[in-house]
Amino acid sequence: MMKWGIYGAGGIAEAFANDFKKVAGSEIIAAYARKPERSKLFCEKNGIERFYFDEDAFFSDKDIEVVYISTPHALHAEVAIKALKSGKHILCEKPFAMNADEAKRVMAVAREEKRFVMEALWTLFLPAINKVMEWVKADRIGTVKAVQANFGFIGNNDPLGRLFNPDLGGGALLDVGIYPVLIANHIAQGTPISINAQAQFTETGVDASTFITAKYANGMLALFGASIETNLINHLVVYGEKGRIEVPLFWMADEATCYSQDDVEVFKCEESQKHGYHYEADAVCRAIGDGRMENETVSHRFTLELMETLDRIRAEVGLKYKQDR
Ligand SMILES: NC(=O)c1ccc[n+]([C@@H]2O[C@H](COP(=O)([O-])OP(=O)(O)OC[C@H]3O[C@@H](n4cnc5c(N)ncnc54)[C@H](OP(=O)(O)O)[C@@H]3O)[C@@H](O)[C@H]2O)c1
Repeated sequence: MMKWGIYGAGGIAEAFANDFKKVAGSEIIAAYARKPERSKLFCEKNGIERFYFDEDAFFSDKDIEVVYISTPHALHAEVAIKALKSGKHILCEKPFAMNADEAKRVMAVAREEKRFVMEALWTLFLPAINKVMEWVKADRIGTVKAVQANFGFIGNNDPLGRLFNPDLGGGALLDVGIYPVLIANHIAQGTPISINAQAQFTETGVDASTFITAKYANGMLALFGASIETNLINHLVVYGEKGRIEVPLFWMADEATCYSQDDVEVFKCEESQKHGYHYEADAVCRAIGDGRMENETVSHRFTLELMETLDRIRAEVGLKYKQDR
C-alpha cells in the first residue's frame, strides 16, 4: 500500500482526493493545511486519517511516502525541496515552479535525495489524449502542420487570490496558458524555435490574457490563447496535411474526433471522467513501485523544457515575478 500526503487543502486537492479513490493499492493517509480547523475539515470530508497544521510534523510523518503539492504556484519549489529533503517522493501541481531556474533546483535535490518527482500534468495521462497521440503517430492526419488551443475563463477577480496576486504566481499564462503550450510541446516532441506573444495586464500586474504564436523545429505552427478575464472557445485542434483532430476542453478531455480524408472516428471515454486525476496518480505509483526517479511522459526534461517555454513567452510580453533574477 503506497501512502500519500496532501500539502495544501484547496480546490484542486479536493478533486484529486476524490479521484484518488480509484487508484488501486494506494491511500491518502494525511493532509496539511495552515489552519487546524481547515485541515481537520478537509480530512473528515475526504476520509483522510491524519490532519496536520504543523508543517514539520507533516514532513516528519515517516508513513507518508509521496507528497502531492497543491498550493499556489509560488510555493511549489520551496515545498517540493522541503518534502524531498524529508525523504518524500513528489507529485507537484502545475506549473512545477515559477521559472526554469527554480525547477532545476528542485530536480537537483530530487537527484541528490534519490526521490521521484513529477509535475502533475494530468492531461497527458488521459485516455482521450493518448488516443490523439495514437492517431498522430499512426499518420491518420498526415504530417502535423499546426496546433491551435485555448484555455480561457472568467476568473474571480480577487486581487489577493492566487489567480490575480503576483506574489502567489497569478496570471493567465502560468495558470491556464500552460495547457495549450504543454500539449503543443508534447505533439511536436520539442519546444518552439520562435515565439511571438502579446498580453493584456490586470491592475495587479499579471497577465489577464496572453495570446501566442510559435513555430517548432519540425515546422509545426501553433496558436495559443490563455485568459482569466474572458471565456475562450477552449478546444484543441491538430491540423494535419490529410485531416484534423478536434478535442473539446482538451485539458480534461473525455472525447476526441479524428477527421481523416473519408473517415471520421470518434473516441469517447467509457464513463465521463469529469476529472481524471487518478490516471496521473496511478502513473506515479507505478513508477515509484518500479524504483524509477521520473515518469517517461512527464520526464524532468519535459517539465524543464515546458518551464523554459513559459519563461520565453513571459520575456516576450514582459511578465516578471519576484522569483526571476
Ligand atoms: N491540475 C489541475 O487541473 C489544476 C486545477 C486547479 C489548480 N491547479 C493547481 O493547483 C494549485 C492550487 O490551486 P487551487 O485552485 O487548489 O488553489 P486554492 O483553492 O487557492 O488552494 C490552494 C491551497 O494552498 C494553501 N496555501 C498554502 N500556503 C498558501 C499561501 N501562502 N497562500 C495561499 N494559499 C496557501 C491553502 O490552504 P490553507 O489555507 O488551508 O493552508 C489553499 O487552500 C495551483 O498551483 C494550480 O495551478 C491544478
